[in-house]
Amino acid sequence: MEVKNEFKLSFDSRSVNESFCRLVVAAFVTPLDPTIEELTDLKTAVSEAVTNCIVHAYNDSCGKIYITGQILDDNFIKIRIKDKGLGIENVQRAMTPLFTTGSSDRSGLGFTVMQSFCDRVNVISSLGSGTTVTLIKKINGRNKW
Ligand SMILES: Nc1ncnc2c1ncn2[C@@H]1O[C@H](COP(=O)(O)OP(=O)(O)O)[C@@H](O)[C@H]1O
Ligand SMILES: [Mg+2]
Repeated sequence: MEVKNEFKLSFDSRSVNESFCRLVVAAFVTPLDPTIEELTDLKTAVSEAVTNCIVHAYNDSCGKIYITGQILDDNFIKIRIKDKGLGIENVQRAMTPLFTTGSSDRSGLGFTVMQSFCDRVNVISSLGSGTTVTLIKKINGRNKW
């Protein structure tokens, strides 16, 4: 698939950067004229992935988060969120609704939210090396009808 536009960014795994990366992703997809709902869904999915890097990957200490965004053919958006943290022992189990290794304030619904707001969610992880989450979402935009 042809890559029509791309950005790459790395930033510290600090919670203050959650809103920063939501805004970056929103600005990146603006030329596709997304609906408010499409934009909110994409930002929410990205937030969940970034929050996971902050909370789980680096255990509340500070590491780097790497984000790549691509606009592909037919208005498909691909966002890759990568960390070099702890990794996930069993990805399939981690993606089960309500599963969490976090404290009682975590819902265990982050991956479920990503899956319901995106067309595809792919997770690759290895213990000790880190995790890469790839989100794919088609933006139909406001000018279709
Ligand atoms: N980037 C990551 N690095 C390490 N573990 C992760 C990462 N993302 C998710 N996990 C694991 O997957 C579990 C489920 O994640 P999620 O569905 O977002 O729920 P929650 O964040 O509420 O625990 C987490 O509790 C954690 O064990
Ligand atoms: Mg989560």
